Amino acid sequence: MRKVFVTAIVLGFLSAGAAQAEQVTYTKDIKSVMEKQCLACHGSDSAPEYAAFKKEQAFWMKQGKGPRMDTYSHLVFYTAWQDTGALMRRLDDGKTSGSGKPGNMYQNLGADEAERQKNLSLFKQWVGGWMLKRLPDITKEEIAAIKVPY
Ligand code: HEC
Repeated sequence: MRKVFVTAIVLGFLSAGAAQAEQVTYTKDIKSVMEKQCLACHGSDSAPEYAAFKKEQAFWMKQGKGPRMDTYSHLVFYTAWQDTGALMRRLDDGKTSGSGKPGNMYQNLGADEAERQKNLSLFKQWVGGWMLKRLPDITKEEIAAIKVPY
């Protein structure tokens, strides 16, 4: 009886530790959110690269399409480099800057506030060092804090 009790406690500790260590990754968590909430406009039929989008922005916007973000490599481009901080600026709910004004892609994170906050939290955990700075202003330490695990 006593042995069963002790075993239960040990197992409880082990599973709590496992849950804490569980990392948010692109393949496990972010890819499916992107598929559901973002790829209608950022899928493979969008502008293939950011530079291609910028070159013919009016053309892509007319079709309601943004730059392509349907692979890990494409999405990471909008975190640390080259389009530094773009993903964070667009998805933030306005609390990081303190302005209260959400980025214009925040609304796409979910159908209601609860879903948007849940998905924002996933993106924040995935990115790691969540900051809104652009390239000339970001420090080396802040770049290194951006994790985006595959
Ligand atoms: C209804 C279409 C639509 C949906 C859905 C959508 N986007 Fe966008 N997105 C656009 C368009 C069009 C642009 C380019 C215009 C602009 O800059 O706002 C854009 C721009 C962006 C940019 C900025 C790229 C740059 O210029 O630096 C990011 C980052 C982004 N979207 C991320 C997302 C994410 C993440 C999601 C899902 C949570 C999402 N978007 C959902 C249409 C959409």
